[in-house]
Amino acid sequence: LVEALGDRSIVLVGIMGCGKSTVGRRLAQKLGLTFADADAEIERAANMTIAEIFATHGEPYFRSGEERVIARLLKKGPQVLATGGGAFMSEATRNEISAHAVSIWLKVDFDTVMSRVRKRANRPLLQNPDPEGTMRDLMKTRHPVYAKADATVYSRDVPHDVVMNQIIQALT
Ligand code: S3P
Repeated sequence: LVEALGDRSIVLVGIMGCGKSTVGRRLAQKLGLTFADADAEIERAANMTIAEIFATHGEPYFRSGEERVIARLLKKGPQVLATGGGAFMSEATRNEISAHAVSIWLKVDFDTVMSRVRKRANRPLLQNPDPEGTMRDLMKTRHPVYAKADATVYSRDVPHDVVMNQIIQALT
């Protein structure tokens, strides 16, 4: 599988809480590839948390930083890259990804996502009085775009290793 990838990376896309980082890290380990997390890279480059970047500079600033960081990471050669949930909405980023990687959408249902994101506070888009409504809207507008990924894997509330093996199957 790794040979078949050549110099392409595996990029995981999907909504917050779909498991991109957790599954991505395990997948990288299994395949002997480097793992990169775009959100973590953005935080490192800015020396601020995502929530702080949103609060201080606003979302458009975050999005342009996100585009740059992902483009830079993709040039580093074969790796597993977890993107933030909004990254794939950028056409420029989708083009970068298709030039350098195979993209996988980790598709997950509403209830699973809500139970996961409730556990983590660092999600500025959901820090409002109606996180459930926000999530429904995000899923509605984003799903047709995530569907442009090269493959879709259902990331239900099953062990992450099961999802990881489904990704490997989708790639072979
Ligand atoms: C976002 C998802 C987050 C992070 C930022 C915006 C989004 O990443 O990039 O809060 O627009 O869906 P995760 O998908 O890793 O939570």
